Amino acid sequence: MRDIFDAIQKSAIRIKDAIDVKDIGYSQQENSSGETQLQLDIQCDMIIEEEFSRVASVHTIASEEKADAELMHEDGEYFVAYDPLDGSSLVDVNLSVGSIFGIYKGDFGSAKMVASCYVVYGPRVEMVFAENKTKLYLLQSGEFEFVKEIRLNEKGKLNAPGGTQQNWAPYHKELVDSFFAEGYRLRYSGGMVPDLHQILLKGGGIFSYPGTSDKPEGKLRRLFEVFPFAFIYEKSGGGAIDGKNNLMTLGHAHVHDTAICFFGSNYEIARVKEVYAKNA
Ligand code: AHG
Ligand code: MN
Ligand code: MN
Repeated sequence: MRDIFDAIQKSAIRIKDAIDVKDIGYSQQENSSGETQLQLDIQCDMIIEEEFSRVASVHTIASEEKADAELMHEDGEYFVAYDPLDGSSLVDVNLSVGSIFGIYKGDFGSAKMVASCYVVYGPRVEMVFAENKTKLYLLQSGEFEFVKEIRLNEKGKLNAPGGTQQNWAPYHKELVDSFFAEGYRLRYSGGMVPDLHQILLKGGGIFSYPGTSDKPEGKLRRLFEVFPFAFIYEKSGGGAIDGKNNLMTLGHAHVHDTAICFFGSNYEIARVKEVYAKNA
């Protein structure tokens, strides 16, 4: 695991440099979710692939930017799924973006996850790594330094509602509004890494990405967006559900499968469960 952690750190330093200097012009290609890939998305994918190609314990990789999983080392034990650049459409407006990694042992799947990690490229570069506990690191003079352990409070104050409101179910809108009616503040940038990072570091709240009329199964991808954050929120003392079930109990059929998802502290997750049990 140490060598994977090191490879992620090396990738993050290279990706930060790529973000800082690269012209992020659109490529002509679409990824498996039908989104136009930026040259920067592809470049970040190549950086991570190159770093993992040097790590013998990595058996197979799967990426948002690759149609299928790819074998790296026959004798490796870890399967790593990653989103090389989450929120890439925010780079041109200079908002924070991230990279997300799900580390699985023996095969991909929520039950096989053993660690997860994300990097935030903001005014500062930070990394959060969860194995048994959730730990925060800060990039300083080319090295990631341990800062602190992260624990969520039982209840927070932030509300980050994803997806187009026009396409929400009425009960979902009522749920989101009920948090605002209770005094929660809107915090949504459109990048799940900084949005979920903010909730984690400010002690709690709720991030939602519901099923919508145009995307009934949600938008966010199980292997490299949903499961990694579900793992981190659980290890931090919070919860992660699809409205009814714990996200870490969900299966997947394909690398790019999506799931409806809610991440938050315990109070907010309990409220979501209550509303979804009655309506969804
Ligand atoms: P990506 O840039 O990797 O495709 O992911 C963007 C995702 C995620 O970061 C964010 O939470 C979500 O898209 C935002 O979607 P909406 O604009 O539909 O809320
Ligand atoms: Mn993403
Ligand atoms: Mn991405």
